[in-house]
Amino acid sequence: MKSKRGRLDRFICKALQIPKKQVRMYLLEKRIKVNDVVADALDMQVTEFDKIQLDHQLLMEHQPIYILMNKPVGVVSATKDDLHKTVLDLIDHPDKAQLHIAGRLDLNSSGLLLLTNDSKWSSQLMSPDAKVTKQYYVKLRNPVSEDYISGFNQGFYFEYEDITTKPAKLEILSDFETLVTLSEGKYHQIKRMFGRYRNPVESLHRISLGHINLPDELKPGEWRLMKENEIDQIDTSSSK
Ligand code: URA
Repeated sequence: MKSKRGRLDRFICKALQIPKKQVRMYLLEKRIKVNDVVADALDMQVTEFDKIQLDHQLLMEHQPIYILMNKPVGVVSATKDDLHKTVLDLIDHPDKAQLHIAGRLDLNSSGLLLLTNDSKWSSQLMSPDAKVTKQYYVKLRNPVSEDYISGFNQGFYFEYEDITTKPAKLEILSDFETLVTLSEGKYHQIKRMFGRYRNPVESLHRISLGHINLPDELKPGEWRLMKENEIDQIDTSSSK
């Protein structure tokens, strides 16, 4: 997802439907402010979250929103869907139309899901370089065995994408229960990995993303705004 970043004059031209010449005049007259400071360059880079004013007229001010949800099974990780209820349908926030999802979960998966309108933050979070780990509690139909651990660690070749999955950590909790930690997110990755052992996933629940754990008190379908320390932590997270 690209960050909405661009030149100050372009933002103003678009917001007021006026030519660049006019914006230059306003600038020379010191009538334009960016985040309460008089602007001095037309090519100044601004983002969707900067506060931009002409005299006292507010042209643009988006507050960044960061939401953490416990996604229930059966609700689709999308903002629009013709068939199923979406995660956006569960959120009651006046600016929810601005939100996008940072890291989807399958329809029949549950757990920690993050939504934001800050595309710079979400692309950092999802960037392979950020190495943000994702941890899942996975129940299987058949018993798991120790040899899965080395298989997950070595990686599996996915022909469709022509990639080998990065080393993943598998912890066996009981015959049918595991904890899986990934540092990437390929399509249906966990189901496909267990598929190599012909062991279907019965349920899959994301419990953490980087250092953010799904809060115990958040019941399926519930959400809350993220705390400042959670928002800050995400882009400095590294592998567990
Ligand atoms: N892997 C899957 O197979 N499904 C998910 O929802 C997440 C990871």
